[in-house]
Amino acid sequence: MPIDINLVSSFQMGTIQPEQADRIYEMLLNLWKDRDVDEAQERYVVESYRRNFFREDRRFVAEAIVDICRGHEPKPARVLEMGCANAPLLHFFKEVAPEVPVEFVGIEPYKPFIADVNELFPEATMVDATAEQFAEFTEAECPPPFRLFTATVALCMMHPRVAQACIGKAAELCDEILLYDFVVNTMGGISATEPVAFIWKPEIKQFYFAHCFESYFQACGFRLVDIQPRVHESGKHGFGMIRAVRAD
Ligand SMILES: C[S@@+](CC[C@H](N)C(=O)[O-])C[C@H]1O[C@@H](n2cnc3c(N)ncnc32)[C@H](O)[C@@H]1O
Repeated sequence: MPIDINLVSSFQMGTIQPEQADRIYEMLLNLWKDRDVDEAQERYVVESYRRNFFREDRRFVAEAIVDICRGHEPKPARVLEMGCANAPLLHFFKEVAPEVPVEFVGIEPYKPFIADVNELFPEATMVDATAEQFAEFTEAECPPPFRLFTATVALCMMHPRVAQACIGKAAELCDEILLYDFVVNTMGGISATEPVAFIWKPEIKQFYFAHCFESYFQACGFRLVDIQPRVHESGKHGFGMIRAVRAD
């Protein structure tokens, strides 16, 4: 066990049945597509997401990514992000570290986010795909190597089978994985074998997955090296940064 840490959660959570996991994943996959929003609401979502890494509880993640890219030679460092929304990370680089070059490839299925990045950061590469599709990509579709694979509040929206396949593909393409996700089941403290879910928004019965990331890393030759829990802006405990590197 590389990391010995007491993780605290404010969320209600537990193991669930496989068919419940399928149903939750289906709902999460359709969350954005099914959203019955008018143009003004869509614009609000797109504009507010750009600022996600400027939040106090999230800033440290973007700062860690900037530091990795600043130290990387040759420049620019290549960063691959899953579920990147409209690339709040690129807004952070632009405003906080404009001197640090980054070559960004983002995977994202929600089209208004893709359109926003294409307009504001035409030099970035956006790929319209889900994590499930990404896991089947050939090298030609997403040419390696990348300095870093990242995903922030994205893998918790995926079925454990999909999140594991996504990490497995990421491990083929990069040497380091840096996530911001639900950390409480990272080492299988709740379960390493059964799907685990937690209630994200009780008022709308929205569930997210709590992954045993350590087992996903081990399965693809990576090892967990760091967990940094942080209190969410809502005041709740349970999220944090997770880092893993190639095991050899
Ligand atoms: C809560 S948002 C987080 C966005 C961004 N990573 C951030 O931290 O601001 C979740 C993102 O994951 C994407 N997403 C959800 N399920 C996905 C899936 N199965 N495959 C790829 N992306 C997914 C959503 O479209 C959305 O952009």
